[in-house]
Amino acid sequence: MRILVVADIHANRAALDAIAEPHDVCLCLGDTVEYGPEPAACVEWAERHVHFGVRGNHDHGVVQNVEITGTGGFRYLTMVTRPPTLAALAPAHRRYLADQPTTRMLTLGGLRFFLVHATPRDPLDEYTPSVPKAWEPRLQGIKADFVLVGHTHHQFTFSVGATTLVNPGSVGLPRDGDPRARYAIIEDGAVELKQVKYAIAETIAGVEAMDIDPRAKAMLADVYRHGRYLNGNGNGPPPPSD
Ligand SMILES: [Fe+2]
Repeated sequence: MRILVVADIHANRAALDAIAEPHDVCLCLGDTVEYGPEPAACVEWAERHVHFGVRGNHDHGVVQNVEITGTGGFRYLTMVTRPPTLAALAPAHRRYLADQPTTRMLTLGGLRFFLVHATPRDPLDEYTPSVPKAWEPRLQGIKADFVLVGHTHHQFTFSVGATTLVNPGSVGLPRDGDPRARYAIIEDGAVELKQVKYAIAETIAGVEAMDIDPRAKAMLADVYRHGRYLNGNGNGPPPPSD
């Protein structure tokens, strides 16, 4: 069984379009919306393609209109892109996002998969470094062959005890210095972390057409082009990480 794992699409339809992997099952780890220009198209893609999904903090924020705290970096971009995201989503799109559970356990091909956006103990928001030591306490009590997570927009896989942890990276807003769209393939228990070039100019043109602060457009274009936020010249402080 060939499983396609995607996460953190963030309303980037052009990035999604670049993923052309044959697969039997598609799993999505949340954050389908916000930041990018095409939230409705991405929710519709998820409705058509995703067999099992979970909710991300951005999906939750949009559906519940959660107040955004903080005004810097990605929090600023969340605040700025929420109104056009809400305007673009029909009630059916919002219902799809609201129907996603925060965690999911399922068995595929005889292997147990635990799906969550952030961590099992804090499904939506906890930000955890990509090192086994940080994950050991967070996976205690989870009996699964694979734990699949998103949220940090950093692609990795490693073992924690008998469990293989996989973060497929972000499809639509990579933040580890490589702008290519990320995803993972799990086939017969073997994990492959994948990267694919996509039409970044198309996404930036979509952002340019959004009715948002020009500063936000420039920041987003920076992240799309470089795979991280350079703060204009690369010398600025890193933005908050969610
Ligand atoms: Fe995200």
